[in-house]
Amino acid sequence: MAKLVGILTAGGDSPGLNAAIRGVGKAAIGIYGMELIGFRDGFRGLVQDRTVRLSLPQLSGILTVGGTILGTSRDKPHKMLVGNKRVDMTSAIVETYQRHQLTALVCLGGGGTQKNAFRLVEQGLNIITLPKTIDNDVAMTDITFGFDTALGIATEAIDRLHSTAHSHHRIIVVEVMGHNAGWLALGAGLAGGADVILIPEIPYDVEGIAAAIRTRSRAGSRFSIVAVSEGAMSKELAAEREQAETSLAKAKGKEKREARQKLTAIEQKLRTRTMDLSRELETLTELESRVTILGHLQRGGTPSAGDRILATRLGTACAGLIDRGVFGVMVAARGNGAEPIPLEDVVGKRKTVPLNHPWITTARQVGVCLGDDGEGSP
Ligand code: F6P
Repeated sequence: MAKLVGILTAGGDSPGLNAAIRGVGKAAIGIYGMELIGFRDGFRGLVQDRTVRLSLPQLSGILTVGGTILGTSRDKPHKMLVGNKRVDMTSAIVETYQRHQLTALVCLGGGGTQKNAFRLVEQGLNIITLPKTIDNDVAMTDITFGFDTALGIATEAIDRLHSTAHSHHRIIVVEVMGHNAGWLALGAGLAGGADVILIPEIPYDVEGIAAAIRTRSRAGSRFSIVAVSEGAMSKELAAEREQAETSLAKAKGKEKREARQKLTAIEQKLRTRTMDLSRELETLTELESRVTILGHLQRGGTPSAGDRILATRLGTACAGLIDRGVFGVMVAARGNGAEPIPLEDVVGKRKTVPLNHPWITTARQVGVCLGDDGEGSP
């Protein structure tokens, strides 16, 4: 009997997921004589045993298609919403796995998915994962698929914003996704020639940014593009949040409620930070400012050539590892190759931009303001 491999996509969708499914499937079926079955909508489909048979015809024509043919969700096996309650559904997942007599389950996802997949490894299941996310923040892999496509989209947006900013002599603040990592904003800002790039790893000083924009203006460039990562924050907000988090961790009894309220108030301020930044820059520079939030545009549509190749490369390597019985690992991108990394070395870590990363040095060398004093401190 042919070995049956399960596959699911979890977390936010990302360009390249279908290319990866196709890569796993074509190699698993075509080279190793296995069969493939897809579970719909991430871990929820595994709990509910909602499947789709993936034979060669279903894998045809999906390489260039965005999103995921399997559907996805942000459900966590151990905290799944059932009615209005969070329930641990891990045992239902184990049952589905055993019912199908799976040889392995492939989970395609970002940092959260790696964690959820590791929980299933602890249940004794044969799990293997691939790293996808437009945020590029999964530890132990050179890159994640989805990032290159999102980088291209955000860069093109910044390119297009230049002409309108230039024509109106305005500041345009463009918010880029990336969660708590600055890869996307830094990469797109650098590639698109942004004048200011703000990332979560470097809390910013608004006065310093305004000064840099005024200097540009005096030198004759009466417009500026500010690429801001959705996770970036001013040094004041960063300090306030850190303090509130520490107080909440230390608080006992009645103090806990007050500490929680303080943190909620700060989180409220964080929600409007890009608009607030734009308004503050307008006041400080006396230039008009507009905000563009790129949002989910960055995740939509056909994957770039780079992501198609990466996802296919990792997908086919994954099938080879299943054939060799290598489980409990993430198939990481290493140079031009792929390497299995134990999931326990991946989970609980986030790959943020190191302050000495060449992209940061390069940005400074071309005169980009990173919102700090030029040496990494605001
Ligand atoms: O992790 C990918 C990502 O697009 C982040 O950049 C962003 O913060 C988040 O997902 C948005 O999530 P959702 O699509 O659930 O709103």
